[in-house]
Amino acid sequence: MIKPKKFSNKNFLSSLDLSPEEVINLLNIAQKIKNKDLNLEFQNKVLGLVFDKSSTRTRVSFQVAMSRLGGTTIDLNPTTSQIGRGEPIKDTARVLSRYCDVLAIRTFQQTHLEEYAKWSSKPVINALTDLEHPCQVLADFMTIKEEFFDFSKVVLTFIGDGNNVANSLILNGALLGVEVRIACPRGYEPNSLIIKKANAINAGRNLLKITNDPYAAVDGANVLYTDVWSSMGEENQQEEKDKEFNGFTIDRKLVSKANKDAIILHCLPAYRSKEITDEVIESKKSRVFEQAENRMHVQQALLACLFS
Ligand code: CP
Ligand code: NVA
Repeated sequence: MIKPKKFSNKNFLSSLDLSPEEVINLLNIAQKIKNKDLNLEFQNKVLGLVFDKSSTRTRVSFQVAMSRLGGTTIDLNPTTSQIGRGEPIKDTARVLSRYCDVLAIRTFQQTHLEEYAKWSSKPVINALTDLEHPCQVLADFMTIKEEFFDFSKVVLTFIGDGNNVANSLILNGALLGVEVRIACPRGYEPNSLIIKKANAINAGRNLLKITNDPYAAVDGANVLYTDVWSSMGEENQQEEKDKEFNGFTIDRKLVSKANKDAIILHCLPAYRSKEITDEVIESKKSRVFEQAENRMHVQQALLACLFS
């Protein structure tokens, strides 16, 4: 039966904190929630949001997800709390976890997130770090499942920077047995430890491909995915990266080389005419707004499992 089950790990800091079975169950719960076949109640639960970086989708989808579960959120904006004045994470985490039932943290270093998790008595969720964006890719794989049903037949090609989103697609893709191809300019490949972990899960199956050729990467792909070339915190590299990423725009020509049934994903926010053209993001193949909506459903499912 499809119902929220407690995860074996306390926290969700990395895509690899969930087992393949836990991911599948979570996606099934999310789909039932979306279809209004499942109504979950977690009255009076409180989610604390600590966001060191900007956010529209992650913040609001967590807020609405909590509200739909019957709970509430507190936005602990670091600039108006003592966090911004440098209160140690180990103190903040011990205090906040006495008030809240779960914490979602968006920050720079993965080690800072791990420090929160170490000192928090309640579960900690990665709401994006420089290394990973695991909540995002749960919504991405939900969107892919809605379209193609069977992950084993999907080829997912990510074109752009080997960043947090690419890293999480690689890890979650490995859990689900999806062929993941990353096409990035030389020097912008994904984190080598992430690649190693995915290859270990793939166990000899050639499911992860890293290339510097976007055209080779889209040949036979069902899903074309991109993200900003310069992530939050990399604003000073923008000019240089815009030059280096020339040729890595998802445009009509690149899309024409993919499978006929290919869909287009982007985690948003998007910079039109840089990583993707306006024409492609607004085309019939685009699923970016379904993908953004699915953030809310998967996070509701995630919270329900963490509260179970
Ligand atoms: N995709 C995503 O995480 O968007 P926000 O930065 O708006 O939360
Ligand atoms: N890679 C982007 C994702 C934004 C949702 C960033 O970290 O800024």
